[in-house]
Amino acid sequence: MSWNLNGKTAIITGGTKGIGLAISKEFLNLGANLIVIARDEAILDACLHQWHTEGYPVTGIAADIGNKKHHQKILQAVGEKTTSVDILVNNVGDNVPKSFIAYADTEYLNIFNVNLFGAIDMLRLFFPLLSKSSAASVINMASVAGITNVGTGAMYAMCKSAVIQLTKCLAVEWAPYHIRVNAVAPWFTGTDRINRLLQNEALKEYVINHTPLGRIASTEEIANTVAFLAMSRASYITGETIVVDGGFLANQGDVF
Ligand SMILES: NC(=O)c1ccc[n+]([C@@H]2O[C@H](COP(=O)([O-])OP(=O)(O)OC[C@H]3O[C@@H](n4cnc5c(N)ncnc54)[C@H](OP(=O)(O)O)[C@@H]3O)[C@@H](O)[C@H]2O)c1
Repeated sequence: MSWNLNGKTAIITGGTKGIGLAISKEFLNLGANLIVIARDEAILDACLHQWHTEGYPVTGIAADIGNKKHHQKILQAVGEKTTSVDILVNNVGDNVPKSFIAYADTEYLNIFNVNLFGAIDMLRLFFPLLSKSSAASVINMASVAGITNVGTGAMYAMCKSAVIQLTKCLAVEWAPYHIRVNAVAPWFTGTDRINRLLQNEALKEYVINHTPLGRIASTEEIANTVAFLAMSRASYITGETIVVDGGFLANQGDVF
């Protein structure tokens, strides 16, 4: 067993920004053949250009994982590149925090679409290719918000809880196919999106004061955990959600 992803074919949804971008870079450094899915074609092309210049084997698909009309295009593009998939990182997610009754129907359906239904569809779409790998690994992106209330709004939190339960169910159901299924649950992580949010000094102070390690995670720290789960080094880990939160959840009882 080696500490790399040499020769592994990996799909990362949302691999062009934030945590997904860090995962893409880590996977390429570790030797994976990468397929990245994201909507914004210009940003995807810029990433691909950079990675090709550096000599990495990577292709991109400009598509919306939350739009069923794009799924056939995704499958076809992947099918042109490979007959089996070793790693699927279901990373796409987004949120518009609101109180429960403030959401319009279309708004909360969109949150479910991006965070849950899109992930479900990718799993269903790629199961036949994952099952052709001799040792496949799926990593779903959850969140601390799926474990305890952190004020993100119930819709996003429900989706992330569902992702954690989905991870357990599929780990059992897909074990006979040699597919491990795990999740990673980050806390505040320094993506552009979160850094904009943390310009609110009161919020930033609250987060840091409640995080024992006293800082916001880097995107690389989340990517490292995803990479470990993807490797054969993690070959006996399945059904697990690894929380990467600087000790936030361990600190919930700290009242003195
Ligand atoms: N950042 C945090 O603090 C944090 C904490 C806990 C959990 N998470 C979870 O970690 C994951 C990544 O979050 P992030 O903060 O890194 O997000 P981000 O910076 O907003 O990046 C999201 C990525 O997904 C792509 N994307 C978004 N919607 C898509 C869609 N419908 N179809 C295809 N691609 C799509 C984006 O590219 P395009 O816009 O070009 O499509 C981008 O590459 C999410 O699941 C999030 O819930 C993040």
